Amino acid sequence: MSPDSHNKDQINCWTSGLAPDPSAHKLQVQGLYKAYGQTLALDRVDLHVAAGEFVTLLGPSGSGKSTLLQLICGLTPPSGGKLLIDGRDQTFAPPAQRDIGVVFQNYALFPHLSVGENVAFPLRIRKVDRAAMARRTEAALEMVGLHGYAARMPAELSGGQQQRVALARCLVYRPSLILMDESFSALDRNLRLVMQDEVRRIHRETGTSFVFVTHDQEEAMTMSDRICLMNQGRIEQFDTPRALYATPRTVFAANFIGASTILHGVVRAGGVLATAMGDIPLPHACSAPAGTKGAVVLRPENLALGPAQDSGLGGTVQDVTFNGPDQRVVFRLRNDECVIIRAPVGMALHAGQPGSLQWEPGDGHFIPCS
Ligand SMILES: Nc1ncnc2c1ncn2[C@@H]1O[C@H](COP(=O)(O)OP(=O)(O)O)[C@@H](O)[C@H]1O
Ligand SMILES: [Mg+2]
Repeated sequence: MSPDSHNKDQINCWTSGLAPDPSAHKLQVQGLYKAYGQTLALDRVDLHVAAGEFVTLLGPSGSGKSTLLQLICGLTPPSGGKLLIDGRDQTFAPPAQRDIGVVFQNYALFPHLSVGENVAFPLRIRKVDRAAMARRTEAALEMVGLHGYAARMPAELSGGQQQRVALARCLVYRPSLILMDESFSALDRNLRLVMQDEVRRIHRETGTSFVFVTHDQEEAMTMSDRICLMNQGRIEQFDTPRALYATPRTVFAANFIGASTILHGVVRAGGVLATAMGDIPLPHACSAPAGTKGAVVLRPENLALGPAQDSGLGGTVQDVTFNGPDQRVVFRLRNDECVIIRAPVGMALHAGQPGSLQWEPGDGHFIPCS
């Protein structure tokens, strides 16, 4: 389906022609926490989502993403803290009163109802009249690229199509906030990429706020206005994808977002970090005083493979793979740590070749560590 195949009138009827006011908070989470017995699934989290914003909760399994989503939609009550939607306290409001749509990983379609009846279901509950129901069901199906599928049964659809029906069933009652929990993780890679584009387009066209959950950093980077990186029930960092990549605040964030080489040490006078493998230059932006413990984070695009040298960051090439635009080199440092470097396609390289890790002095990012 082409993204341009939508009837503009339908899109206008969706948004009422009003762009969301980004200065308005759609969602405010204040000191929210959730305990299950001794387990603190969510540990006093503060989070603001602007109207029309696309926010992704990213983090490893067990970091509290689903718990936070369930508290936002009201499926689970919090142990403490506050939740405001459109500025109103909804901490303990029943799910139906929250004007929120939810799409889970398992599509949860009614198997005995047709696609059209599945999508119309929320409108039937809301007692919308027949003509409006038919019109809005068709518009929602068109929005997700399933025009003409209303009479099919869920069992006659692929996994990707069922996920689209689940999305249409949520879009049909035009919630101003949509929550999606690992919704694409059951789909194969190509289909996942198509669905990512579709959801981005729907976000643009409807102006709906989204809170999207994934454990896949690439998915989070491509989809989001901002990423809320979670770790052990807490927010590690809440930033734009660009800022998370360029200026991670913790070693966890640097490791979770993108490939990185992390060199630990202590700041010394003269703008160097003393590491176990010798002194290395500190990034230009680092103003930490001498004696500060920390780490320099270098991304693959910062690094180059230089000639062998006896001291410093010398090592050997362990593996080389052709990667299309460049070669991916696994380089083993003297301390046995492996680093990923990109090398030009024309560079002659082989396993066992000695070399050294090089970068522009001043490049990289410094993270203070206690
Ligand atoms: N219903 C529950 N009962 C007990 N512990 C739970 C329950 N739901 C989640 N947890 C625990 O809370 C933590 C966070 O879980 P969850 O929010 O599902 O993480 P994520 O979605 O990031 O994988 C985990 O340690 C998990 O085992
Ligand atoms: Mg989860």
